[in-house]
Amino acid sequence: MSIKYNVQLKPYNSFRTIALARIFCEPQTVEDLSNAIKHFHNERKVVLGAGCNLFFTRDFDGVVIKPGMKGITIVAETDEYVDIEAGASEEWDQFVGFCVSHGYAGIENLSLIPSSVGASPIQNIGAYGSEVKDTIVRVKAVHINTGEYHEFTNEECAFGYRDSHFKRTGNYVITSVVFRLNKRFVFKDKYVDVSRELQGIASPSISQVRDAIIRIRTRKLPDFSLLPNAGSFFKNPLLTKEEKDALQRILPDAPIYNAGEKEFKTSAAFLIEEAGYKGKRKGMVGTYEHHALIIVNYGTESGQEIVAFMKEIQQEVKKQFDILLEPEVWIY
Ligand code: EPU
Repeated sequence: MSIKYNVQLKPYNSFRTIALARIFCEPQTVEDLSNAIKHFHNERKVVLGAGCNLFFTRDFDGVVIKPGMKGITIVAETDEYVDIEAGASEEWDQFVGFCVSHGYAGIENLSLIPSSVGASPIQNIGAYGSEVKDTIVRVKAVHINTGEYHEFTNEECAFGYRDSHFKRTGNYVITSVVFRLNKRFVFKDKYVDVSRELQGIASPSISQVRDAIIRIRTRKLPDFSLLPNAGSFFKNPLLTKEEKDALQRILPDAPIYNAGEKEFKTSAAFLIEEAGYKGKRKGMVGTYEHHALIIVNYGTESGQEIVAFMKEIQQEVKKQFDILLEPEVWIY
């Protein structure tokens, strides 16, 4: 297994902030990972997937683990579905492309999300009315402190909106994920942007849906290889009925969606835009001109500068609408 020291993390995070990892290891197998964890049991640890949902504000005095498990294998099959296991380091969109090209349905709406397979359950990635939790049957992982191997059922993952047991505890390194996908694809009209994009096609195929989503995302979201960013910076706020009513008194046009946990959800992008922060730039950091929820990096290497801008947006939204936006990205 490769172990390196004093590794620059800039290429490993899509915001392109600088920080040194004192120790950096890339285990290729579950056994390697378990051994590395036991070997470095006294060190602080952090896990890196594709690095598209986190950034660094300082050097990391511990071990950065970048799981390298590869492989896509069908582990069970019936007339209706396939169970496919994919290694943690498989690139998410390549995996989606593989499934769509074989007609395996369930994750096509999650096309083009920058992620690794291993990171997908951690924050329960979601887009266009789909969440990855609805396709996951098992998650295989190793405990970050003991090195012990454990398999989680879907229920044990305790998924929520951009949330899971793994995110809440920070205790596991995911090594592979088993997805159950349908062999039959039925288009469900559940997101207006997608329906609009597919207008005129009576019953779209799975590939047409994937292509439509790729077109929408390409138009709306900045490519981090050209303009560094970490996707949606904040979560869409969950609100109680009282909080929702209070918001509607100040902003009658605020979009309100039904949500499970706290009853209602509003749009963080809308609040940021209303607060006057869409396309606003401060020094080398700003929000994207076409989408207020994305913070983009115009050329700083300092994570602190991004944090300062994040705090400014939080304060302004809190002051104007009495809602505290929580970051969706991880900040180290
Ligand atoms: N809106 C604005 N101003 C903007 C952009 C959007 O007011 O600049 C409002 C509009 O009312 C729009 C609504 O926000 O209808 C929702 O916008 P969008 O469909 O882009 O969704 P989002 O809530 O901003 C979420 C996910 C995205 C995912 C999209 C599409 C979160 C935190 N983000 O964004 O996920 O791609 O839905 O389903 O839930 C990510 O997590 O990194 C991510 C990109």
